[in-house]
Amino acid sequence: MPLRTLDSLGDLAGKRVIVRCDLNMPLSDGEITDDGRARASLPTLRALLDQGAKVVVISHLGRPKGEPNPEFSLAPAAERLGQLLEKDVVLAADTVGESAREAVASLEDGELVVLENLRFNPGETSKDDAERRAFAERLAQFGDAFVSDGFGVVHRKQASVYELAQLLPSAAGALVATEVEKLGRVVDNPEQPFTVVLGGSKVSDKLGVISNLLPRVDRLVVGGGMLFTFLAAQGHAVASSLLESEQIEAVRGYLAEAEERGVELLLPADVVVADRFAADAAHEVVPADAIESSSFGAEGIGLDIGPEAERAYAEAIRTSRTVFWNGPMGVFEFPAFASGTAAIAQALTAVDGLSVVGGGDSAAAIRTLGFADDEFGHVSTGGGASLELIEGKRLPGLEVLGW
Ligand code: 3PG
Repeated sequence: MPLRTLDSLGDLAGKRVIVRCDLNMPLSDGEITDDGRARASLPTLRALLDQGAKVVVISHLGRPKGEPNPEFSLAPAAERLGQLLEKDVVLAADTVGESAREAVASLEDGELVVLENLRFNPGETSKDDAERRAFAERLAQFGDAFVSDGFGVVHRKQASVYELAQLLPSAAGALVATEVEKLGRVVDNPEQPFTVVLGGSKVSDKLGVISNLLPRVDRLVVGGGMLFTFLAAQGHAVASSLLESEQIEAVRGYLAEAEERGVELLLPADVVVADRFAADAAHEVVPADAIESSSFGAEGIGLDIGPEAERAYAEAIRTSRTVFWNGPMGVFEFPAFASGTAAIAQALTAVDGLSVVGGGDSAAAIRTLGFADDEFGHVSTGGGASLELIEGKRLPGLEVLGW
C-alpha cells in the first residue's frame, strides 16, 4: 500500500497542523553537536508554513522518564529551528498543559510553535494502549491534521507516532516519504552485490538485525566494539577489549549460518589496540588473532580496525552495488581511533550504485569526520528505524499511514 503523503491532506491554509518531528539531537553542555535532524525537518515545515498553516511541532529528546526534566528540554532544538527557519519560534513550557494550549491558540497563519518534550508525559511511551490513546487525544485537540515526519521514531508504537495518526486526518511528511523511498530501494531487490556494514559497540543491540539480514545480503562487514565478540567466537583472545561473553554462542551460530548461506562475512585482519580508553592512549596495530601480543598484553583494548582491515573493507564496499552502513568502526570521537570509520565513509562515497548511511550515530560520525551528506546516496535520520526497515519489518508509524 502506498504511503499517504502531504498532498492527501488538501489545502492546509489556516488549519492547525501537528507535525511529529524527530528533534532528538546529540547535545554537549546544552549545545547541539549535530543538527542534521533539525535540518532534515525543514522541507515539510517550510511547505506548511508557506501554505499558511498554523504549525504545532512535537518531538521527544532523549529518554526522560515520563516527567519533566530540564536536562531533556527541547529549548536548544526550538532555538535551532528558529535559526534555520529564520523565524521566531516559541517553545511552550509543557506538552498538553496550559502553556501549550495558550501557545497554540495564539498562533497566526504561517506561524510555528514547538511543544515541550513529549516524553515528559508518561502516556507517550506507555505500554498500556488506553494510556497512550488518552495522551494522543489530548494532543489531537491542538490540530486539524497530523503530519508524521519523525522518521527516527516510526518503529516506535508511541502515542505521538501511532495513536495520534489514527485520531486526525494524517499523512507522511516529506522526510518520512523520502526515507521510505530511498530505504525501500535497499529493501526491495537491491542491486547485487548487496553489502551491509555493521559497527557500534554492542552485539546484543544487533542480534535480531544480523539474523534478519543474513538471508538478504551478499556480504556482511563487521566492525566496532562488537567485532571482539566475533573474534572471541572464533576462539581468539581479545585482552581487555569490549566483550559480551553471553553472546558468543549466538555469534558462533551466525558465523555458521553465514557460511551455509554463502554470505561473505568479513572480520578484520588487524586491529588498533590501546593501553587504555582515552583520546591520548598509547596504541599499536596488531593482528586480530593475536591481540594479546601487543606491548600492552592482557591490558590492551581494541579501539579501531587496523589498516589492512580498512583496505579489505573498502574494497568490499567499493565493489558492491548497494551498501547500507550502520555503526562506527571504532571510537571515532578520538581522532587517533577514527581512521577505520573514515575509511568506510570514504569507500561509501565511491560506490557505483546506492550507498546509504543509516543511523543517528553513523550520520553524526560522517559529519564529524568532515564528509558532506551529498557525497552519499542517502543519509538516513533514523537509527533503529532504518535498521528495522532494512530487516524487512513492518513499522507501526508507517503502517498507520497506509504503508
Ligand atoms: C533515535 O535517536 O534513534 C530516535 O530519536 C529514537 O529514539 P529512541 O530510541 O529513544 O526511541
